[in-house]
Amino acid sequence: MSSRVLVLNGPNLNLLGTREPAVYGSRSLADIEAELAEVARRSGAEVVFFQSNHEGALVDRIHSAKLDGTDFLIVNAGAFTHTSVALRDALAAVELPFIEVHLSNVHRREQFRHHSYLADLALGTIVGLGAAGYRYALEYALGHTAKNSKDH
Ligand code: DQA
Repeated sequence: MSSRVLVLNGPNLNLLGTREPAVYGSRSLADIEAELAEVARRSGAEVVFFQSNHEGALVDRIHSAKLDGTDFLIVNAGAFTHTSVALRDALAAVELPFIEVHLSNVHRREQFRHHSYLADLALGTIVGLGAAGYRYALEYALGHTAKNSKDH
């Protein structure tokens, strides 16, 4: 069975490309997603995407990941990273492995961005590497899910 990875993006990430390009880069979310889809296709894996500006919609999508055969999540929760106990609880509830990604290096920015409600649940975090961070996370996820399916 091919592995299935869900890439979840939170608030304001739909504006990538035009939103503060000096901080977040000039690539649109659609452009980043197209690259990830190509990486997955080459590995015979499936990647699906979800972006929302609404906390509850992100919680609902995490819940449905438990039921739809998702093996791994890549999560950039945007500002909800720093505020949302609900997203943390949803990720804890579904017990799916995930990597937390941030385009910017949150540790070089304002103090309020230094804390993540998700980080200690994540397998790992990638910050500050721009759009490449999603690709590195996907490459790891594909290796991780291939390894786990061999073990079972
Ligand atoms: C972000 C960092 C967050 O602090 C911010 O609220 C975002 C984007 C990033 O990818 O660098 O919306 O998650």
